[in-house]
Amino acid sequence: MSRVRHYIRQIKNGRLKELLGQLGWIYGFARKHVVFIGIFTLLGMSGTVTSLISSLVSRDLVDIITGQQTGKLLATFAAMIGITLGTSCITQLSGYVSNKISIKIDNEIKSQMFDEILATEWEALTRYHSGDLMMRWNGDASVISSGILNIIPSFINYLFRFASSLFMVLHYDASFAVFALASIPVSVYASRTSLKKLQQSNLSSMNIGSKMSSFNNETFSNIQAVKAFDLLPLYSRRLRELQKEYTQARLKYQRVAVINSFILTIVSLVVSYSAHGWGIYKVWKGDITYGTMTMFLALSASLSGTVDNMISFIPSTINLANSAKRLMGVLDLPKEDYSHKEEVAAFFAEHKEEGVGISVRNVSYAYANGTEVFENVSLDAHPHEVIALVGPSGEGKTTMLRVFLSIIRPQSGIGYICAGAGTPESDAPKLELNASARQLFAYVPQGNTMFSGTIADNMRNVKEDASDEEIIDALKIACAWDFVSRLPEGIHSEIKERGGGFSEGQAQRLSIARAVLRQSPILLLDEATSALDMHTEHQVLQNIMADHYPRTTIVTTHRPSVLHLCKRVYSIHDKQCTLLDKAQIEEMIKGYS
Ligand SMILES: Nc1ncnc2c1ncn2[C@@H]1O[C@H](COP(=O)(O)OP(=O)(O)O)[C@@H](O)[C@H]1O
Ligand SMILES: [Mg+2]
Repeated sequence: MSRVRHYIRQIKNGRLKELLGQLGWIYGFARKHVVFIGIFTLLGMSGTVTSLISSLVSRDLVDIITGQQTGKLLATFAAMIGITLGTSCITQLSGYVSNKISIKIDNEIKSQMFDEILATEWEALTRYHSGDLMMRWNGDASVISSGILNIIPSFINYLFRFASSLFMVLHYDASFAVFALASIPVSVYASRTSLKKLQQSNLSSMNIGSKMSSFNNETFSNIQAVKAFDLLPLYSRRLRELQKEYTQARLKYQRVAVINSFILTIVSLVVSYSAHGWGIYKVWKGDITYGTMTMFLALSASLSGTVDNMISFIPSTINLANSAKRLMGVLDLPKEDYSHKEEVAAFFAEHKEEGVGISVRNVSYAYANGTEVFENVSLDAHPHEVIALVGPSGEGKTTMLRVFLSIIRPQSGIGYICAGAGTPESDAPKLELNASARQLFAYVPQGNTMFSGTIADNMRNVKEDASDEEIIDALKIACAWDFVSRLPEGIHSEIKERGGGFSEGQAQRLSIARAVLRQSPILLLDEATSALDMHTEHQVLQNIMADHYPRTTIVTTHRPSVLHLCKRVYSIHDKQCTLLDKAQIEEMIKGYS
C-alpha cells in the first residue's frame, strides 16, 4: 500500500510527467526516422526467428546423433550451418543500418542544437559556461542519438524474443516455463534498489563532466595567464581534484551495479541448474528426448537472459532522460526574434540615400544579476554624424551598444532606427530595434574578436563576396594595410585563435577593417582604438569619416582627441546619459591632459 502511495506521490510531484515529457521530446527526433528504426527492429526480430529455428534444428541434430530419430544427418547439419551464416549476415546488416541511422540522428540533433544555441538570447545563454555548453552539445546529444537506436528497437526485439521463446516453451512443455519465469521477480527486486542511485550518480557525473570541460576550456584558452602567474601546479592539482570527484560519482553506481549483477548471476545459476535437473528427470522418465531437453535448456536460458536485458533498459532510459533534461534546459531558453528580416531590408532599401540613424527613448536596463545600468535614458545619432559615449569604466558604454544591437532587451523604454535625421517624435519613418535590425550594423567590439583563419577569411566572414581589392581598401581605411602589406603572405596570412600572432593594436585595426568592409549604415566602435597611438587613432577616425557614405557612427572612448571629431558627446554616468555642451567637453578634454 505504501508503495502505491509512493508512486502516486511521485506522479503528483510531476517526476513521471517530467520523464514522459523528456521521452516525448526525444521521440520528436526519432519520429522522422521511423522507417529506418522499423527496418532495424525487423532485422533484429528476424535474428530472433532464425535463432528459434536454429534451436529446433539443433534439437533434431541431437536426436539424430543420439539415435532417437532417423533423419538425414547431412541435410540437417547443412541447415544448421546455413542458419548460422544467415544469422551472421543479419547481424552485420543491422549493425550497418544502426550505424547509419545513429550518425544521421546524431548530426540532426547536433545541428538543430547548434542553431538553437546561436539564436538564444545572449544574456540567458551566458548562464552556461562555454565548456558546459560544449559538453551538452557533444556528450548529451550523443547519448540521445545512440539511445534512440538502442533502446526502442532493442526493447521491442527483446519483448518479441521473450514472447516467442515463451510461446515455444508453452507449446512443447509448459513445465519448463516455470523455471524461466521464476527468476523474474527476483531480478526485478534486485535491480529496483539500484535505480535511484543510478539516476543520481548519472546526473552528477554528467554535471562534473561539464565542470571538467569548462575547466579545460578555460585553462587552455588562458594558458598565457596560467603560465605568467606560475599556476601550473595549482591547475594540475585542480584537474586531479575534479577527476577524483568524477571517479567517486561513477564508482558509486558501479558498486551497486556489481552487487546487483552478482545477485542476478546467482539467480540465473539456480534457475539454470534446476532446469537442467528437471530436464534430466523428464528424459529419464521418457517424457522427452535428449534433443527436446537441449532445446528447452536453450530456450529457458534465452528467456531469463531476455528478462535481465529488459530490466537493464530502465537505467539506460534514465540516462537518456537525464541527457534530454540537460539539453532541454539549454534549448528552452528564450530565443531572439529574427522575424523582421525582410521588413528591415525593405526599410533600409527605401532610405539608403539619406541613411538611417538610431534613437533610444526612456530606456531602463538592469542585468539579470540585478546590476542597474540605465534609468530612463535617451539619445540620438544621425547619418553623417559621429557620436561619442564617454564615461568611467563600468558605467554602461558597452551596455548601451548592446541595447542598440538588441543583444539585450531593456526592461522599459524603446529604441528605433529612424530614416535620415528623423527622431521618434518627428514624422520621419521609423522601425523598432530588434535582432533582425543587426543587418544594418557594423560593430567593433571591445577586446580581440578575430577568428582563426587568414585575414581575408576574417574579412569575408562579414561580406562573403568581397574582392581582394575591397578588402585592401578596408584595410587601408583602418590603417592596417601598412603592416598587412609587409607580411610575406599579405591578406592571406594566418591569424591564430583570438587574433593570435598580431599585436593588440594590429588586431584592433583588423577588427575595424572588418567593420568598414561591411559598409553598414550604422557603425559602432567600442573603445576600438584604445590600443592605437594618438596619431593612428586620429588617422583611422578621419579615414572613416572621409567617405561620403551616409553613415551613423557611435564611438565609446576615453581619448580627448577623439572628442574633437564628434558631433555630440554623451556622458554615461550614474545610470544617466547626458548630452554635454561645448564647455563641458572642453572641461573634459582638459581633465584628461
Ligand atoms: N553580462 C553582465 N552581467 C551582469 N552585469 C554586467 C554584465 N556586463 C556588464 N555588467 C555590469 O554593467 C555595468 C556596465 O558595464 P559596461 O557596459 O561593460 O561598462 P563600460 O563599457 O562603460 O566599461 C558594470 O557595472 C558591469 O559590472
Ligand atoms: Mg566597455
